[in-house]
Amino acid sequence: MSETDKIEKEALDAISAAGDLAALDGVRVAELGKKGRISGLMKTLGGMSPEERQEMGPKLNGLRNRVQDAVETRKSELEEAELEKKLQTERIDMTLPPLAAPEGRLHPVMQVFEEIAAIFGDMGFTVAEGPDIEDDWHNFTALNFPEGHPARETHDTFFFDPQEGAAPKVLRTHTSPVQVRVMETQKPPIRILVPGRVYRNDWDATHTPMFHQVEGLVIEKNIHMGHLKGCLIDFVRDFFEVDNVEARFRPHFFPFTEPSAEMDVKYTKVGDSIEIGAGDSWMEILGSGMVHPNVLRNCGIDPDEYQGFAFGMGVDRLAMLKYGMPDLRPYFEADAGWTRHYGFRPWLSPSVSGGLS
Ligand code: DAH
Repeated sequence: MSETDKIEKEALDAISAAGDLAALDGVRVAELGKKGRISGLMKTLGGMSPEERQEMGPKLNGLRNRVQDAVETRKSELEEAELEKKLQTERIDMTLPPLAAPEGRLHPVMQVFEEIAAIFGDMGFTVAEGPDIEDDWHNFTALNFPEGHPARETHDTFFFDPQEGAAPKVLRTHTSPVQVRVMETQKPPIRILVPGRVYRNDWDATHTPMFHQVEGLVIEKNIHMGHLKGCLIDFVRDFFEVDNVEARFRPHFFPFTEPSAEMDVKYTKVGDSIEIGAGDSWMEILGSGMVHPNVLRNCGIDPDEYQGFAFGMGVDRLAMLKYGMPDLRPYFEADAGWTRHYGFRPWLSPSVSGGLS
């Protein structure tokens, strides 16, 4: 066997023995690479006599071409095998059920915010928001709490350090300052709903220093107490999902409304839970009233031209009532077990902003 035949046999054997693309490339480099064995032989042609070159040239070229072809052929075989293997191992079984995605829950307060917004949304209210850190004007003065008035003290306010020449800022004690902010910047007709966090220095089974309220405000030309009553009775009926609600409006005092009324609804205790709508006991569920002319004036609205009503309610307690949660404190303990138990699937909720989006 000639030297070139021997080299050819060795190369072709090594090529068919290569089990994967990396091994094959190793053989290619060893034979045909810059410093490869066959490339080395090709270089010897330059130093040969013309006769020798005429004899060896075609032999070496043939050798190189056959080895090159063998590498190419083996390469396609190996690529095909690799693809086949991938297809076998990565096959997708379309009949398998999907893996369950980790699923969060909507906190009951957020759920109830959305339910309330959906109900009032149907009545033409839009949502408005304001800052948690308020100034004295928006939280108190514009709402007709005169300076030094005892009503201010009922709010257990958290004050910031006093600022020079100005009343200290406060953590808003209610969502009512957003009424002022909206009336200062928008012309009537106004129909807004204000969900938000509020703060008071209070702590027991039914009070936390941070809690949630929803405020409503309607300012138009001919709004009267009848609208207030109809709107709030409709709300309670929709919210508690009962056909009839026995309700009463009991005179009360708020500085920012005149007359003011608290709304009570009848309820029955059934075992540990409560049914709203009828029964032999009254429960207070919100505060309301006709917006005080001083408040309208403070916001640049003429009380001889416009009037309206407002209301405010504690959302945490409404959620407790509707969904049977006995204690307020776990609301804010970020306990995932509690949220899994009492929370809601966002896409199953009747909501304005929830759903699949
Ligand atoms: N801001 C009141 C509070 O926190 C609740 C309230 C009562 C709001 C009557 C109103 C209203 O807008 O008209 O106790």
